[in-house]
This record gives sequence, structure tokens and C-alpha cells, in this order.
Amino acid sequence: MEDREISRAVIGRLPRYYRYLGELLDAGVERISSNDLSKKMHVTASQIRQDLNNFGGFGQQGYGYNVKYLYTEIGKILGLNRPHNMIIIGAGNLGQALANYASFEKNGFILKGLFDVNSRLEGVAIRGVPIRMMDELKDFVSQSDIEIAALTIPKSKAIEVAEMLIENGIRAIWNFAHTDLNLPEDIIVENVHLSDSLMRLSYTISRYQEDHGK
Ligand code: NAI
Repeated sequence: MEDREISRAVIGRLPRYYRYLGELLDAGVERISSNDLSKKMHVTASQIRQDLNNFGGFGQQGYGYNVKYLYTEIGKILGLNRPHNMIIIGAGNLGQALANYASFEKNGFILKGLFDVNSRLEGVAIRGVPIRMMDELKDFVSQSDIEIAALTIPKSKAIEVAEMLIENGIRAIWNFAHTDLNLPEDIIVENVHLSDSLMRLSYTISRYQEDHGK
């Protein structure tokens, strides 16, 4: 595959293709036309063709897409063809909720450890993974080949903890704390803000109400 820059917008749509194709695969569907995929996903067929052409197409005129092949190839593009070891920093409400969600593992995100500063949480296990104290983090990370750290701690602590994680070799941060981390360029940060999604929902509700005179 040609190695070139793919737009963030396209990359942003790939997880959704991956999810739908995974469902088709589970349902035993072997191939699908871009029109049928379009109907299922509520995305135009030309958008699908354009998106997938970025990666060499994968489709064949008159045949459609081979679901398993497309699923596998998109998985490779998303880096899901190998496992990613992960730790969670902050084992409070959100940290524990993430740790309880088993489906991340289905996509290769393996939860190796949970860390906190609250001694009352020490040793409590979430789906078999014990909560450890932060002073164990350094040794743990150096021994466990950890790639990703999820940050689910108060925002006032996020920057100092992120810097400490980097010092200990973490290169990718899944940041839930509502603050910009401004880390060196070679550190990969994915910010998640559920409230942004809620605000988009609120916007759509407001527009709907305006359009329908409510
Ligand atoms: P919580 O208070 O239940 O959990 C926070 C945990 O972090 C506590 O167990 C605390 O002991 C631990 N902690 C504090 N300082 C620490 C440190 N220096 N090192 C390690 N652990 C430390 O809070 P909750 O509800 O789980 O939220 C956690 C964070 O996630 C907050 O910053 C919150 O604003 C954010 N959040 C973000 C969302 C998003 O969509 N991005 C959604 C919900 C919460």
C-alpha cells in the first residue's frame, strides 16, 4: 500500500466502517455492494468509494466488497492487527467503567494495570486486574511493555502525571481529563470529551426545535 497522508476526516470514519463490517462478518455476510453498505451506514455510496479509494479501493466492479478482506485491511490501517497493552491511571468512576468494558480487548486493547493514589483502592480487582498504587508504576511499566496510558484523573493532576508517564516510556496517552496536555510532538495524545458529544446533541435538539417551531 502506498504510504501517504490520509485526511483526519477519513481516518475518523474508519472505526465506523470497521464496526459495521465486523457486524456483517458476525452475521455471516461475505460480500456487500457499496450501495448496500451505504444504506446500512447512512453514508453515500460515493463517500464510501472515495474513502476506501484512499487505501487502494478494496472493491471490485460488479462484485462489491469482500467483507472479511475489507474488515482485515481496515483493521491493519487502524493498527488493530496487533495487541496494544494499556494501563489506566485513576481508578475512580470513569477509570473503573473503562476497565469494566471487556470489548476493548476484542479489538486488541489489553488492560494490564490500573493505578491510583487512593490507598483504599489498593488491591481491589476490576475484571481480575488489581488496582496498584502509583509508586509501583515505574517498575510495572518497565516490565510490562505498556504502550497506552488512559488518564482518568482530575485535570489538576493530568499534566504532571502525563509528564511522569512519558519519563517512564509511555508514548501514547488516551486523555479523558479536560485539559490540553501540550506534550512533546512525538507523544501521541487522543483527547476524549463526552461532553463535546453531548453539546453536539444539544445543538441538534435546538436546531430541530427551531425548524419545527417549538
Ligand atoms: P473520580 O474522582 O471518581 O476518579 C478520579 C480518580 O483519580 C480517583 O480515584 C483519585 O484517587 C485518582 N487520582 C487523583 N489524583 C491522582 C494521581 N495523581 N495519580 C493517580 N490517580 C489519581 O473521578 P471520575 O468521575 O472518574 O473522573 C475522572 C476524570 O475524568 C476527571 O478529570 C473528569 O473530569 C474526567 N471525565 C472526563 C470525561 C470525558 O468525557 N472526557 C467524562 C467523565 C469524567
